[in-house]
Amino acid sequence: MEIIIAPNYEAMSKTSAAIIAREIRRKHDLVLGLATGDTPIGTYRELAKLHKDEGLDFSKITTFNLDEYLGLAPLHRNSYNYFMWENLFEHINTSQHRAFVPQGNTVDPEEFCAWYEEQIRKAGGIDLQVLGIGRDGHIGFNEPGSSFASRTRVKGLYEQTIKDNARFFEKEEDVPRFAITMGVGTIMEAKKILLIANGEGKAEVCQQFIEGPVTSQITATALQLHSYAIVVLDEEAASKLKRREYYNWIRDNKHIVQKQIGR
Ligand code: PGA
Repeated sequence: MEIIIAPNYEAMSKTSAAIIAREIRRKHDLVLGLATGDTPIGTYRELAKLHKDEGLDFSKITTFNLDEYLGLAPLHRNSYNYFMWENLFEHINTSQHRAFVPQGNTVDPEEFCAWYEEQIRKAGGIDLQVLGIGRDGHIGFNEPGSSFASRTRVKGLYEQTIKDNARFFEKEEDVPRFAITMGVGTIMEAKKILLIANGEGKAEVCQQFIEGPVTSQITATALQLHSYAIVVLDEEAASKLKRREYYNWIRDNKHIVQKQIGR
């Protein structure tokens, strides 16, 4: 895992947007996995800016969102589909037909999940998957105990997640108790992974998933087993890391390594 510590939220957002933009420029028909939540809003704002100011072209890319609340229709204002249009899709030249978000109001979730997996396969697999992290260590809605082999399915939300996400709803009781989410196994098949996290509230879980033992109790620890995972944190989220000096030294000397291996 490559750990990049940015001074603040804005810098974290710029860095992660630059990583995504680099991949889109390298492969114009990139298959991009996307996340929702407060964390990536700044990154999406930066991507919209790169589109507007520099003509970053999203017209050929395909996107797959990680998850969606079960029971919410795509146009519900708390749905992740709505979030994606409001925060990103409306501001770039993405194709509506290639912007996949799990359908929360599907009548047959099991069949839908199999179909979603099939669409990812048909698109050639995910090239770059963007992730946030929950305070319980989840990626997507893969709550504690989710199998590392899990695929897209319906998952019950953990108490902590319901509490954390209540801020988006009128009251806690309105937060759906179930969601459709890509599995840890689905996420791990992405060729590259970019996890972003900010704020003091994420400091402990970031220390655990980067420096602690691999466990399905903190599903983000699966990233330790991925061959190409980049983690971008702000100072607050990085504040409990034990080896931060080492990560910074690597970041500052990366050019030497890249030169030696001819990249
Ligand atoms: P947040 O959510 O970005 O709103 O903190 C992250 C997550 O739950 O994955």
